[in-house]
Amino acid sequence: MTKTVLITGASSGIGEATARRLVADGYKVYAAARRLDRMSGLSAAGVQVLPLDLTDDASIIQAVETIAQRDGRLDALINNAGYGSYGALEDVPLEEGRRQFEVNVFGLARLIQLCLPLMRARRAGTIVNITSIGGKMHEPLGSWYHATKFAVEGLSDCLRMEVAPFGIDVVVVEPGAIRTEWSGIAREALLRYSGGTAYAEQANRHARMLAAADTSSMVSPPEVVAGTIARALRASRPRTRYATGGGARMILFLRRWLSDRAFDGFMRRIEKSLAGAG
Ligand SMILES: NC(=O)c1ccc[n+]([C@@H]2O[C@H](COP(=O)([O-])OP(=O)(O)OC[C@H]3O[C@@H](n4cnc5c(N)ncnc54)[C@H](OP(=O)(O)O)[C@@H]3O)[C@@H](O)[C@H]2O)c1
Repeated sequence: MTKTVLITGASSGIGEATARRLVADGYKVYAAARRLDRMSGLSAAGVQVLPLDLTDDASIIQAVETIAQRDGRLDALINNAGYGSYGALEDVPLEEGRRQFEVNVFGLARLIQLCLPLMRARRAGTIVNITSIGGKMHEPLGSWYHATKFAVEGLSDCLRMEVAPFGIDVVVVEPGAIRTEWSGIAREALLRYSGGTAYAEQANRHARMLAAADTSSMVSPPEVVAGTIARALRASRPRTRYATGGGARMILFLRRWLSDRAFDGFMRRIEKSLAGAG
């Protein structure tokens, strides 16, 4: 029986690469995002494309109802959509902080609520939440983004215990630095909110770091994360967490063993060396 998968944020980056990988692996793939025009290539590759805006409840309900009507089952939900809202906490309007949570946390949680009945009915399923190494470590000027990723880490641990009795797995995937549209969006927000404030010097340095990181050899292509997700879906007992690509394991190792202030110093050194080169 062909397994059905829903992946959000499939119009670019990790989501697009994962949709391509899973359709090649033989899954029936539903790929969702706001920019349908950006998913015509996926359609041509045999992926089912759905419109989805995670800030719009009706759109989330519609996406899940479409799958329920067409297939009556969902084997895996891959919550991948998200963006990085950067800028100094003092500068970013709370309205934008709320929007960041709406997309990265509440939209993800709403999809889980709506997909769980389909999984419980068959006493099987896998929920993959794409967080980030940013769900465990910190950097300046990324407080709203990191807050959402820390939130999804905790939410996923609670959920794993709740749904295990129904035969449903919850997997957290923590990418490191991955070459996608993510960093351009984060950089644009950072400079928009803090490029002309008391934080301008920090913001410009951090923006140079993000730009330089994009071309660094440490950054991995999104196919690396797609491969990790495919492996987690194949596993009969998946790990609870997979750190993958772009220095993820090294950075999480340092975060685990360094004190808070020693890690602050490490992040400042990385920022300085990359920003200098950028
Ligand atoms: N790139 C990295 O270095 C990195 C590292 C760690 C974690 N991550 C995480 O990986 C995930 C995928 O990011 P990416 O790197 O592949 O970035 P990306 O290329 O910018 O892709 C982000 C996707 O999210 C979708 N999205 C954004 N806002 C949305 C909304 N309101 N409703 C529905 N979909 C929305 C976008 O589609 P539309 O705009 O068409 O809706 C797009 O398909 C994110 O959760 C990100 O935080 C990325």
